[in-house]
Amino acid sequence: MNLQAKGLLLHCRGGFEGEVASEAAQAVAEAGNSGFARAKADTAFLRFELYAPQDWRELLAARPFPDWVFARERYAWIDRIENLPQQDRAGVIATQLAAMGLAAGRVSCEFADTNEAKEMSGFLRRFTPHLEKALQKVGVLRAQATLPTLHLFFESSEACDIGLSAAGDSSPWPMGVPRLRMPRGAPSRSTLKLAEAFYALMSEAEREKGLRAGLRAVDLGACPGGWTLQFAQRGIHVQSVDNGPMAEAVLETGMVEHVRADGFTWRPKKPVDWMVCDMVEQPARVARLMADWVASRSCRRTIFNLKLPMKKRFDEINRCREIIDKALTEQGLSYTLRMKHLYHDREEITAYLALG
Ligand SMILES: C[S@@+](CC[C@H](N)C(=O)[O-])C[C@H]1O[C@@H](n2cnc3c(N)ncnc32)[C@H](O)[C@@H]1O
Repeated sequence: MNLQAKGLLLHCRGGFEGEVASEAAQAVAEAGNSGFARAKADTAFLRFELYAPQDWRELLAARPFPDWVFARERYAWIDRIENLPQQDRAGVIATQLAAMGLAAGRVSCEFADTNEAKEMSGFLRRFTPHLEKALQKVGVLRAQATLPTLHLFFESSEACDIGLSAAGDSSPWPMGVPRLRMPRGAPSRSTLKLAEAFYALMSEAEREKGLRAGLRAVDLGACPGGWTLQFAQRGIHVQSVDNGPMAEAVLETGMVEHVRADGFTWRPKKPVDWMVCDMVEQPARVARLMADWVASRSCRRTIFNLKLPMKKRFDEINRCREIIDKALTEQGLSYTLRMKHLYHDREEITAYLALG
């Protein structure tokens, strides 16, 4: 299926279109191409159009999905179907995709994550089963997990953009929006941030190894205990460092030791499997602390939050990357660092750092 991409389609949090446009320009340059962003502020998506069409797989391969920070979802933009008839939208889409020789293992009907676009959600919930049937009938949708994912992006019910991503090279959730349940006894919504980070920043193999019962974790800036609860509920022992008050429900899990101390100076007596950090501080200061824990082997892996300034968000992220890189390479250590603007993040990003 050697389809040509006209560009990229990207989803993000409203207000971050500029950051995604810069990321897309870099990614397209890495793929040996160039183009321009068509973006409007606060629309929560953008189209990056290429000056010269390019094989869609080649375009995406230059920057796999885990390497994007501000894009909640991204796929190759193949084409647009307009003037969909009200009576047979599914039939028209299926016929056109079959004529293009397209084959997909999964279809995802998507819209922008804004209040204005929310009405599309009801329409797409009703429409998707009809579309799936129509796509199966013409042989576009097949039960083969290795085939690409077909993304159909609807700005209205009259037109849709056709997108493709390789199997496994996209967000684990449609449009990058996770539907996670608040765990029982959770004292804050921020618990969902760490839950999302486990899925958005770690591979399945890493989760299997890193989230086993019996491991030990430290949570810096832990109160009221949302992040701590994520570990406790998985049977992981937590030392929760914070001078603030910890929620009773979290302490009652019996897995938590509340340590009243300064998270910037406190260290565990023995190395631990995990350290997580949600202290509100200057990003560079947090990055230095994270790098130091990992370089000194105080922990094997860490997930941490970097609160970003309103302007020059990219510069701040690059500064943090440099701090971490310097601290670890000076010691001859190789590492994995992934950063993501999670659905549950606002003016901040979340990062995963591990040795190896
Ligand atoms: C955003 S809240 C953490 C929320 C927590 N992750 C949760 O899920 O409930 C930040 C916390 O960091 C703590 N904090 C800030 N500076 C700290 C420091 N130097 N040492 C320890 N805790 C600190 C604050 O007391 C506050 O409770």
